[in-house]
Amino acid sequence: MRKRILSGMRPTGSLHLGNLHGALKNWIELQNQGDYECFYFVADWHALTSEYNNTDRIREYTLEIVIDWLSVGLDPEKSTLFIQSSIKEHAELFVILSMITPLPWLERNPTYKEMKEELAEKDLSTFGFLGYPVLQAADIIMYKAYGVPVGVDQLPHVELTREIARRFNFLYGEVFPIPEPLLTDVPKLSGIDGRKMSKSYNNAIYISDRGHVLRRKVESMFTDPQRMRKKDPGRPELCNVFTFHQMYSSSDDVEEISKECRRAGIGCTDCKRKLAKHLSEGMRPIHEKQDYYKSHLEMVRNIIEDGNIRATRIARMTMAEVRKAVKI
Ligand code: TRP
Ligand code: SF4
Repeated sequence: MRKRILSGMRPTGSLHLGNLHGALKNWIELQNQGDYECFYFVADWHALTSEYNNTDRIREYTLEIVIDWLSVGLDPEKSTLFIQSSIKEHAELFVILSMITPLPWLERNPTYKEMKEELAEKDLSTFGFLGYPVLQAADIIMYKAYGVPVGVDQLPHVELTREIARRFNFLYGEVFPIPEPLLTDVPKLSGIDGRKMSKSYNNAIYISDRGHVLRRKVESMFTDPQRMRKKDPGRPELCNVFTFHQMYSSSDDVEEISKECRRAGIGCTDCKRKLAKHLSEGMRPIHEKQDYYKSHLEMVRNIIEDGNIRATRIARMTMAEVRKAVKI
């Protein structure tokens, strides 16, 4: 039997290049290695933890995210793509896990503390928000996942999942394998203002950006801060535009830009113009697929339905075991 991989994303906005290079490429690679059975899902209940008073677009984003997944190369023949809220067993397992999770484990969760501070304008003193990692633990162990591909920001959640799974096994018998976080080196892609690319900073390049929107974003990108004038030599290794070139331009171009930037032979405006061209060429196949799926929504819905059925089959088996172990 192939080892199982599981990961999820919250539908709180459109996907951007940070998501693509940070998480999705990794998911696609795991899928294509063929050694793993991959489960990827949209964590729409998790979106509610911070967006409970702003739910108008969650459904729309859920569909959009699946379209973007398909457009960048997740393949429903190889991976199971599903929606968290369609598998009600997650809620049942969440209830049971919440009974055995000590409150202090949740209260000292660094992500919880950080998010509360970062989103100070929102009232996040809810039961659901504190319980976020318990729901995440239910998502993960429901499928007896061996590995969870995540970014460093999610490590505390996977660690908590491991502790909750161990506690369940201790109390009720060995039902769950202990999942491993699968971290990968993520190229550091910043947003157009040089800060971490994030929807909430308004600095993201979205997978769906194209044409003049894409060009304008590239034009406004921060570069080497010490390069004020064209005659100043630049430091490509400190320039976000250059990081993008390394991903979207040919190695000859990358080499030339690096050389010319260092000897002030190319200006940032020209350098960005080149990048805009290569980025838009590189993203064209993604955009073509997006257009295709957007005009074949029925197909996307069928893919999701099919994934939900496959996920439900496993979730039901797990819950039968869980009820037996808990004697309920
Ligand atoms: N918390 C994750 C995030 O914000 C999303 C998520 C929910 C998840 N459940 C999961 C990730 C289970 C991995 C496994 O990115
Ligand atoms: Fe960055 Fe290009 Fe300007 Fe060099 S020329 S600083 S790589 S944008």
